[in-house]
Amino acid sequence: MHSLLSYVTFALLTWSATAQNTTTVVDSSTVAVSTTTAVSESSTLDASTTTGTSTFAVSSSSATNPLQTPGFVNNGTVGAYACAISDATAATNQIVLADNSTNDAITFGGTLTGTTLASCPEALQPTYPFNSINLRSPDDSIRATFLPYGASVSELWVQDRDGVFRDIVLGFDNKTNYGTDVVHPNFGPQVGRYANRIKNGTFTIDGKIYHTPLNENNHDTLHGGTVGYDRSAYQITNLTSSSVTFTLHDADGNQGFPGSVVSSATYILENNATWRIEMDSYVTDNKKSPIMLSSHTYWNLAAYNGSDTVLDHIVYMPRADKYIKTDQFLIPTGEIASVKDTPFDFQTPRPFSERFNETVGVCGATCQGWDSCFVMSKHKRDEPVFELTSPASGIKLSVTTDQVAIQVYTCDGISSAGKSLPRKRAHGGDGTTNPGKFYDNHSCVVVEMEDYIDGINNPHWGRNQIYDKHRPYHWRAEYKFSTVA
Ligand SMILES: *[C@@H]1O[C@H](CO)[C@@H](O)[C@H](O)[C@H]1NC(C)=O
Ligand SMILES: *[C@@H]1O[C@H](CO)[C@@H](O)[C@H](O)[C@H]1NC(C)=O
Ligand SMILES: *[C@@H]1O[C@H](CO)[C@@H](O)[C@H](O)[C@H]1NC(C)=O
Ligand SMILES: *[C@@H]1O[C@H](CO)[C@@H](O)[C@H](O)[C@H]1NC(C)=O
Ligand SMILES: *[C@@H]1O[C@H](CO)[C@@H](O)[C@H](O)[C@H]1NC(C)=O
Ligand SMILES: *[C@@H]1O[C@H](CO)[C@@H](O)[C@H](O)[C@H]1NC(C)=O
Ligand SMILES: *[C@@H]1O[C@H](CO)[C@@H](O)[C@H](O)[C@H]1NC(C)=O
Ligand SMILES: *[C@@H]1O[C@H](CO)[C@@H](O)[C@H](O)[C@H]1NC(C)=O
Ligand SMILES: *[C@@H]1O[C@H](CO)[C@@H](O)[C@H](O)[C@H]1NC(C)=O
Ligand SMILES: *[C@@H]1O[C@H](CO)[C@@H](O)[C@H](O)[C@H]1NC(C)=O
Repeated sequence: MHSLLSYVTFALLTWSATAQNTTTVVDSSTVAVSTTTAVSESSTLDASTTTGTSTFAVSSSSATNPLQTPGFVNNGTVGAYACAISDATAATNQIVLADNSTNDAITFGGTLTGTTLASCPEALQPTYPFNSINLRSPDDSIRATFLPYGASVSELWVQDRDGVFRDIVLGFDNKTNYGTDVVHPNFGPQVGRYANRIKNGTFTIDGKIYHTPLNENNHDTLHGGTVGYDRSAYQITNLTSSSVTFTLHDADGNQGFPGSVVSSATYILENNATWRIEMDSYVTDNKKSPIMLSSHTYWNLAAYNGSDTVLDHIVYMPRADKYIKTDQFLIPTGEIASVKDTPFDFQTPRPFSERFNETVGVCGATCQGWDSCFVMSKHKRDEPVFELTSPASGIKLSVTTDQVAIQVYTCDGISSAGKSLPRKRAHGGDGTTNPGKFYDNHSCVVVEMEDYIDGINNPHWGRNQIYDKHRPYHWRAEYKFSTVA
């Protein structure tokens, strides 16, 4: 545990100066990683206790001229890794994959027999954790950029009804902003250790009261605390051209949570424009902890092309028959109500705009729109439970999941006086927050597949959100994209 944290600190101190402008794409060879930083003794994570040689398959690409591949902001480069080196300067044996053509590098634990830093003098310093990891599905129907920082999705490209790729998630072009931005929107990361809000920043396990940071309005804990998973540097523990696994060691006592936890997020880009996500957490000591993870992706399925609002998007949640009532601070009151005859009824498809006028104050005292947890009494694992369509682009998202609730936040307050987020260039931005160049209120929607929010403080709901080493946490979802006429 400490060795990992000190490694991360070391890496940041050593390499942050070069953390810019990176691109990394690997080809179809699987890179099987054996870490020397043991994940945990009891963990069943794939990359765990192995030491010794690893089976790095260092790839060179057979792709056509990479500069002719549209999509990624930086024009994408299908990697030709000239160097795979064992970086003797690192605290642990770090593999450094360096792309000589784009000045890129990835690091992760492991050793590579017979290769030394000296054999690859051209390799630049790795820029972990702000490396861009650019992946695509085997059929090239979906492309994405992920970062070890927060296990974040930074770009996600799918084709619109004209076959033109659009980047349909919000994010920063300047990747270090993920670590420094004062708005702190949780832009596309895995959120944890406990997603959404914890009332009063307190919860009780076996009669003992635990306190977590009051990082929202000095009133409640939001998304795991002051330094939640979104502000944490993950390790890459598996990587292929279409998938990546990020792993985080979350120490006992971190942000006030009891128990040492190892959490991971695996992102897989599959054919037919499918983004599959698998999240897992394992408690590695004898303590018990609340765990609730989610993907906190901001969507605009028009990609700010033809429409700047998300309120025109058509929403369909066929099984969301109830919602969790909240107070002016968005803290659950304990009551779960029927959506019937309320602006929370999306059991038939309708645009957000249809009932937007009825939502004044429902997502907080001065808020308009939704920041609400929808509950599915009769959830089905293999049926889409959330669908979102942009009339402007024709892009349709369909989500299947093992989770039974859906938090929907329509970006009220994402921009406020003096605190705005620059749009990406792919969204018409120019690096400033000048008028028309920032992400405006209600121009995006966050959709979090998860469990009932603050279930740990509402035991009468009967949700068991406490995990221990005998009860691992799992989260699964598939995001499929198609188009409508
Ligand atoms: C990206 O990095 C290259 C090489 O270091 C540099 O020449 C270029 O100006 C950088 N581009 C941006 C947008 O920072
Ligand atoms: C991307 O590549 C195309 C050629 O395929 C070129 O016309 C365009 O200027 C490039 N864009 C950037 C931002 O480098
Ligand atoms: C890396 O690029 C430099 C030029 O930028 C070249 O001289 C060197 O041979 C390249 N190294 C490898 C291993 O391809
Ligand atoms: C907007 O989308 C249309 C249709 O796909 C495309 O032709 C156009 O190039 C896009 N505009 C921008 C600025 O990306
Ligand atoms: C990126 O953002 C960092 C702060 O996170 C800033 O120091 C740096 O100058 C920015 N880089 C560019 C190229 O704008
Ligand atoms: C709220 O938190 C405070 C300080 O952490 C604590 O003293 C108090 O008991 C908590 N109240 C409830 C109702 O849990
Ligand atoms: C790495 O990911 C690939 C693709 O998802 C998978 O087939 C492989 O089993 C994974 N390897 C490990 C060690 O987890
Ligand atoms: C894509 O989806 C279609 C229709 O659902 C299916 O017939 C086809 O086999 C899928 N293709 C791939 C490559 O998975
Ligand atoms: C909502 O209210 C605004 C301002 O009163 C009005 O312009 C708009 O047409 C209304 N929208 C709907 C769908 O009723
Ligand atoms: C966005 O919403 C916030 C909170 O409701 C509000 O303070 C701010 O003025 C709004 N921004 C704009 C540009 O209307």
